[in-house]
Amino acid sequence: MTNLSPTLTLASGVEMPQVALGTWPMVEQECERAVRSAFDLGYRHVDTAENYENEAPVGKAVRESGIDRSELFVTTKFNRKWHGDAAAGARGNLERLGLDYVDLLLIHWPNPDQDLYVKAFETLIELKEQGLARAIGLSNFKPAHIERILAATGVTPDVNQIEMHPYYDRAAEREYHASKGITTEAWSPLGRDNGLREEAAIKDLADKYGKTPSQVILRWDIDLGAATAPKSGNPGRQAENLDLFDFSLTPEEIAELSKLQAGPAAEPMQDSDVFGH
Ligand SMILES: NC(=O)c1ccc[n+]([C@@H]2O[C@H](COP(=O)([O-])OP(=O)(O)OC[C@H]3O[C@@H](n4cnc5c(N)ncnc54)[C@H](OP(=O)(O)O)[C@@H]3O)[C@@H](O)[C@H]2O)c1
Repeated sequence: MTNLSPTLTLASGVEMPQVALGTWPMVEQECERAVRSAFDLGYRHVDTAENYENEAPVGKAVRESGIDRSELFVTTKFNRKWHGDAAAGARGNLERLGLDYVDLLLIHWPNPDQDLYVKAFETLIELKEQGLARAIGLSNFKPAHIERILAATGVTPDVNQIEMHPYYDRAAEREYHASKGITTEAWSPLGRDNGLREEAAIKDLADKYGKTPSQVILRWDIDLGAATAPKSGNPGRQAENLDLFDFSLTPEEIAELSKLQAGPAAEPMQDSDVFGH
């Protein structure tokens, strides 16, 4: 097996593979096939969610992988309706996955209109103590939301998974996370299909390093110390997205990419499970 992703040490001490396979919007057999091929290629981290309606095929691929469960890292998330009863939400995650525990359980969106995310996080702390989640965290939370969680619980969320790519570099959020010991994880790290790969600055760096534009974009996450969850259902592109560890960008190149603000975000930020993936 070649090219396993290195790991990041989360606030709770758990080791998390830095590169995850994103799975939205794949479902059913397409999803199961994609997760199997990713594991064959050396991925050990898979990102799913209740909202993606693919926890069952992800769980099946995990259970039937032949890889020891302790070597795999499964991230999932629950929807807004569970904020008042996150234990029930997590039971649903585990049932659909067919697993006894997940490695990282995230509150998918803060949904501040409900004002229940602090309660949800308090329950995540209990679920972690019960061994149902090895690490716990957030997704799409803003610093003000995280401040409330820290003040109420004193427990550092392991991860905040947010939209992040060179067009939307999230410098302020990353700095805030780092100051609190929270690991940043990028969703839509390739900018989905927003034209980023065509940027001259990215193509030039791809030529310089003998890599592809996608690899340059993903290396930007790695060099910033973020975890990253590129989605591909194609084994060739999955392999490409994991083959990031034989080059690195200079601080000047990282800054140059971070300045690429010309394109729109892949989608506007919105606290809604209807909209969010
Ligand atoms: N927490 C949240 O709220 C949230 C929100 C959105 C997404 N996510 C997670 O983040 C993951 C990734 O985000 P995303 O799917 O929005 O976008 P993405 O990973 O930035 O981009 C995926 C797109 O890029 C293509 N692609 C992948 N690798 C490529 C390569 N090497 N060269 C050329 N094209 C490539 C894929 O097509 P192919 O499959 O055909 O290769 C797909 O169309 C999701 O799958 C999900 O797990 C989380």
